Amino acid sequence: KLEKVYSVAIDGPAGAGKSTVAKMIAERLNLAYVDTGAMYRAITLKALERGNFSKKGIIKIAEESTIEIINGRIYLDGRDVTEEIRKPSVDEKVSTVASIPQVRKRLVEIQRQMAKNSGVVMDGRDIGTTVLPNAKYKFYLTADIKIRAKRRYEEMLNKGINSDLEKVEQELAQRDKQDMERECSPLKVAEDAVIIDTSHKTPEEVVNEILDYIKRDENVL
Ligand code: DC
Repeated sequence: KLEKVYSVAIDGPAGAGKSTVAKMIAERLNLAYVDTGAMYRAITLKALERGNFSKKGIIKIAEESTIEIINGRIYLDGRDVTEEIRKPSVDEKVSTVASIPQVRKRLVEIQRQMAKNSGVVMDGRDIGTTVLPNAKYKFYLTADIKIRAKRRYEEMLNKGINSDLEKVEQELAQRDKQDMERECSPLKVAEDAVIIDTSHKTPEEVVNEILDYIKRDENVL
Protein backbone atom coordinates (compact mmCIF):
# COMPACT_ATOMS: atom_id res chain seq x y z
CA LYS A 1 0.00 0.00 0.00
CA LEU A 2 1.32 3.41 -0.96
CA GLU A 3 1.88 5.86 1.80
CA LYS A 4 -0.16 8.98 1.59
CA VAL A 5 1.95 11.68 -0.02
CA TYR A 6 1.13 15.34 0.23
CA SER A 7 3.05 18.57 -0.03
CA VAL A 8 2.91 21.82 1.87
CA ALA A 9 3.67 25.09 0.04
CA ILE A 10 4.78 28.07 2.11
CA ASP A 11 5.18 31.42 0.36
CA GLY A 12 5.63 35.02 1.42
CA PRO A 13 8.04 37.94 1.55
CA ALA A 14 11.51 37.90 3.15
CA GLY A 15 11.51 37.90 6.94
CA ALA A 16 7.97 36.56 7.36
CA GLY A 17 9.41 33.51 9.12
CA LYS A 18 8.94 31.00 6.30
CA SER A 19 12.14 29.01 6.66
CA THR A 20 11.99 28.69 10.46
CA VAL A 21 8.38 27.56 10.30
CA ALA A 22 8.80 25.32 7.23
CA LYS A 23 11.71 23.48 8.86
CA MET A 24 9.68 22.82 12.01
CA ILE A 25 6.63 21.65 10.03
CA ALA A 26 8.78 19.29 7.96
CA GLU A 27 10.19 17.78 11.11
CA ARG A 28 6.78 17.35 12.71
CA LEU A 29 5.27 15.75 9.59
CA ASN A 30 8.37 13.78 8.73
CA LEU A 31 8.57 15.35 5.26
CA ALA A 32 11.64 16.69 3.45
CA TYR A 33 12.21 20.45 3.62
CA VAL A 34 13.12 22.33 0.44
CA ASP A 35 14.30 25.93 0.70
CA THR A 36 13.91 27.28 -2.84
CA GLY A 37 15.34 30.71 -1.98
CA ALA A 38 18.62 28.93 -1.21
CA MET A 39 18.69 27.67 -4.79
CA TYR A 40 18.39 31.19 -6.26
CA ARG A 41 21.05 32.24 -3.79
CA ALA A 42 23.43 29.48 -4.91
CA ILE A 43 23.20 30.60 -8.54
CA THR A 44 23.78 34.19 -7.42
CA LEU A 45 26.85 33.15 -5.41
CA LYS A 46 28.35 31.42 -8.43
CA ALA A 47 27.75 34.44 -10.66
CA LEU A 48 29.44 36.68 -8.07
CA GLU A 49 32.41 34.32 -7.85
CA ARG A 50 32.74 34.24 -11.63
CA GLY A 51 32.42 38.00 -11.78
CA ASN A 52 29.95 37.44 -14.59
CA PHE A 53 26.69 39.23 -14.04
CA SER A 54 25.52 39.37 -17.63
CA LYS A 55 22.09 37.84 -18.17
CA LYS A 56 23.58 35.34 -20.57
CA GLY A 57 26.27 34.36 -18.09
CA ILE A 58 23.76 33.84 -15.30
CA ILE A 59 21.50 31.68 -17.49
CA LYS A 60 24.47 29.54 -18.45
CA ILE A 61 25.38 29.08 -14.79
CA ALA A 62 21.82 28.05 -13.94
CA GLU A 63 21.73 25.55 -16.77
CA GLU A 64 25.12 24.00 -16.04
CA SER A 65 25.05 23.78 -12.26
CA THR A 66 23.91 20.97 -10.05
CA ILE A 67 22.04 21.91 -6.90
CA GLU A 68 21.23 19.41 -4.18
CA ILE A 69 19.71 19.66 -0.74
CA ILE A 70 20.90 16.93 1.62
CA ASN A 71 20.08 16.90 5.33
CA GLY A 72 19.28 20.59 5.29
CA ARG A 73 22.56 21.59 3.62
CA ILE A 74 22.76 23.03 0.13
CA TYR A 75 25.34 21.82 -2.37
CA LEU A 76 26.33 23.69 -5.50
CA ASP A 77 28.25 21.44 -7.90
CA GLY A 78 28.94 19.18 -4.94
CA ARG A 79 30.31 21.96 -2.73
CA ASP A 80 28.58 22.89 0.53
CA VAL A 81 27.55 26.56 0.23
CA THR A 82 25.00 26.64 3.08
CA GLU A 83 26.68 29.52 4.94
CA GLU A 84 28.09 31.45 1.99
CA ILE A 85 24.73 31.99 0.31
CA ARG A 86 23.64 34.17 3.27
CA LYS A 87 26.31 36.82 2.58
CA PRO A 88 25.04 40.40 2.16
CA SER A 89 26.51 40.49 -1.37
CA VAL A 90 24.17 37.62 -2.29
CA ASP A 91 21.18 39.34 -0.60
CA GLU A 92 21.81 42.35 -2.73
CA LYS A 93 21.83 40.55 -6.09
CA VAL A 94 19.52 37.58 -5.66
CA SER A 95 16.28 39.30 -6.71
CA THR A 96 17.86 40.26 -10.02
CA VAL A 97 18.91 36.67 -10.65
CA ALA A 98 15.43 35.43 -9.63
CA SER A 99 13.80 37.73 -12.18
CA ILE A 100 15.36 35.92 -15.16
CA PRO A 101 12.75 33.56 -16.70
CA GLN A 102 15.30 30.98 -17.92
CA VAL A 103 16.82 30.76 -14.44
CA ARG A 104 13.37 30.22 -12.94
CA LYS A 105 12.48 27.60 -15.52
CA ARG A 106 15.55 25.55 -14.68
CA LEU A 107 15.17 25.84 -10.89
CA VAL A 108 11.43 25.10 -11.01
CA GLU A 109 12.25 21.87 -12.89
CA ILE A 110 14.66 20.85 -10.15
CA GLN A 111 12.13 21.80 -7.45
CA ARG A 112 9.36 19.73 -9.05
CA GLN A 113 11.75 16.82 -9.32
CA MET A 114 12.49 17.11 -5.60
CA ALA A 115 8.78 16.91 -4.81
CA LYS A 116 8.03 14.13 -7.24
CA ASN A 117 8.60 11.00 -5.23
CA SER A 118 7.91 12.13 -1.70
CA GLY A 119 5.93 14.75 0.09
CA VAL A 120 7.81 17.97 0.82
CA VAL A 121 7.46 21.18 2.73
CA MET A 122 8.70 23.76 0.25
CA ASP A 123 9.13 27.46 0.91
CA GLY A 124 9.62 30.31 -1.53
CA ARG A 125 7.68 32.93 -3.47
CA ASP A 126 5.89 30.99 -6.20
CA ILE A 127 5.44 27.52 -4.73
CA GLY A 128 1.64 27.57 -4.37
CA THR A 129 1.14 29.50 -7.62
CA THR A 130 3.66 27.92 -9.99
CA VAL A 131 5.97 25.22 -8.67
CA LEU A 132 3.38 23.02 -6.94
CA PRO A 133 -0.04 24.39 -7.92
CA ASN A 134 -1.58 21.09 -6.81
CA ALA A 135 0.01 21.12 -3.36
CA LYS A 136 -2.55 19.91 -0.89
CA TYR A 137 -1.78 22.65 1.63
CA LYS A 138 -0.80 26.23 0.83
CA PHE A 139 0.11 28.94 3.29
CA TYR A 140 1.12 32.53 2.74
CA LEU A 141 3.08 34.02 5.62
CA THR A 142 3.41 37.73 5.92
CA ALA A 143 4.31 40.33 8.55
CA ASP A 144 4.65 44.05 9.01
CA ILE A 145 7.75 45.36 7.20
CA LYS A 146 9.15 46.93 10.40
CA ILE A 147 8.92 43.58 12.17
CA ARG A 148 10.44 41.69 9.27
CA ALA A 149 13.32 44.17 9.17
CA LYS A 150 13.91 43.80 12.89
CA ARG A 151 14.00 40.00 12.56
CA ARG A 152 16.52 40.19 9.74
CA TYR A 153 18.60 42.71 11.70
CA GLU A 154 18.69 40.45 14.76
CA GLU A 155 19.49 37.42 12.65
CA MET A 156 22.54 39.28 11.34
CA LEU A 157 23.54 40.44 14.83
CA ASN A 158 23.49 36.80 15.92
CA LYS A 159 25.95 36.07 13.16
CA GLY A 160 28.17 38.89 14.39
CA ILE A 161 27.22 41.31 11.61
CA ASN A 162 26.29 44.75 12.88
CA SER A 163 24.02 46.40 10.33
CA ASP A 164 21.77 49.42 10.29
CA LEU A 165 18.09 48.71 11.01
CA GLU A 166 16.83 51.40 8.70
CA LYS A 167 19.05 50.21 5.88
CA VAL A 168 17.88 46.62 6.41
CA GLU A 169 14.28 47.82 6.12
CA GLN A 170 15.00 49.72 2.91
CA GLU A 171 16.71 46.70 1.40
CA LEU A 172 13.81 44.42 2.33
CA ALA A 173 11.30 46.84 0.83
CA GLN A 174 13.38 46.97 -2.34
CA ARG A 175 13.55 43.19 -2.54
CA ASP A 176 9.77 42.82 -1.93
CA LYS A 177 9.11 45.30 -4.69
CA GLN A 178 11.37 43.48 -7.13
CA ASP A 179 9.88 40.08 -6.23
CA MET A 180 6.28 41.31 -6.53
CA GLU A 181 6.71 43.32 -9.70
CA ARG A 182 8.71 40.91 -11.83
CA GLU A 183 6.96 39.52 -14.90
CA CYS A 184 7.76 35.86 -14.41
CA SER A 185 5.84 34.23 -11.51
CA PRO A 186 5.92 37.17 -9.10
CA LEU A 187 5.33 36.87 -5.38
CA LYS A 188 1.57 36.81 -4.84
CA VAL A 189 -0.99 34.98 -2.74
CA ALA A 190 -2.27 31.77 -4.34
CA GLU A 191 -6.06 31.79 -4.58
CA ASP A 192 -6.40 28.79 -2.31
CA ALA A 193 -3.72 29.75 0.23
CA VAL A 194 -4.35 30.39 3.91
CA ILE A 195 -2.87 33.76 4.88
CA ILE A 196 -1.12 34.00 8.24
CA ASP A 197 0.16 37.28 9.63
CA THR A 198 3.15 36.36 11.80
CA SER A 199 3.83 39.88 13.10
CA HIS A 200 2.86 39.11 16.67
CA LYS A 201 3.26 35.34 16.73
CA THR A 202 6.12 33.12 17.78
CA PRO A 203 7.32 30.46 15.34
CA GLU A 204 5.71 27.80 17.58
CA GLU A 205 2.35 29.57 17.38
CA VAL A 206 2.52 29.72 13.59
CA VAL A 207 3.58 26.07 13.39
CA ASN A 208 0.65 25.02 15.59
CA GLU A 209 -1.77 27.04 13.51
CA ILE A 210 -0.55 25.34 10.33
CA LEU A 211 -0.55 21.89 11.90
CA ASP A 212 -4.12 22.49 13.09
CA TYR A 213 -5.26 22.99 9.50
CA ILE A 214 -3.47 19.89 8.32
CA LYS A 215 -4.60 17.83 11.29
CA ARG A 216 -8.24 18.67 10.74
CA ASP A 217 -7.90 17.33 7.25
CA GLU A 218 -5.70 14.32 7.63
CA ASN A 219 -6.94 12.90 10.93
CA VAL A 220 -3.46 11.56 11.45
CA LEU A 221 -1.58 13.67 13.92
O1 DC B 1 13.74 33.49 0.78
P1 DC B 1 15.08 34.07 0.40
O2 DC B 1 15.35 35.41 1.00
O3 DC B 1 16.22 33.13 0.60
O4 DC B 1 14.95 34.29 -1.19
C1 DC B 1 15.98 34.87 -1.93
C2 DC B 1 15.45 35.54 -3.19
O5 DC B 1 15.06 34.56 -4.16
C3 DC B 1 14.26 36.46 -2.99
O6 DC B 1 14.61 37.79 -3.31
C4 DC B 1 13.21 35.99 -3.94
C5 DC B 1 13.81 34.89 -4.72
N1 DC B 1 12.97 33.70 -4.72
C6 DC B 1 12.10 33.52 -5.76
O7 DC B 1 12.01 34.39 -6.62
N2 DC B 1 11.36 32.40 -5.84
C7 DC B 1 11.42 31.46 -4.90
N3 DC B 1 10.67 30.35 -5.02
C8 DC B 1 12.30 31.62 -3.80
C9 DC B 1 13.05 32.76 -3.74
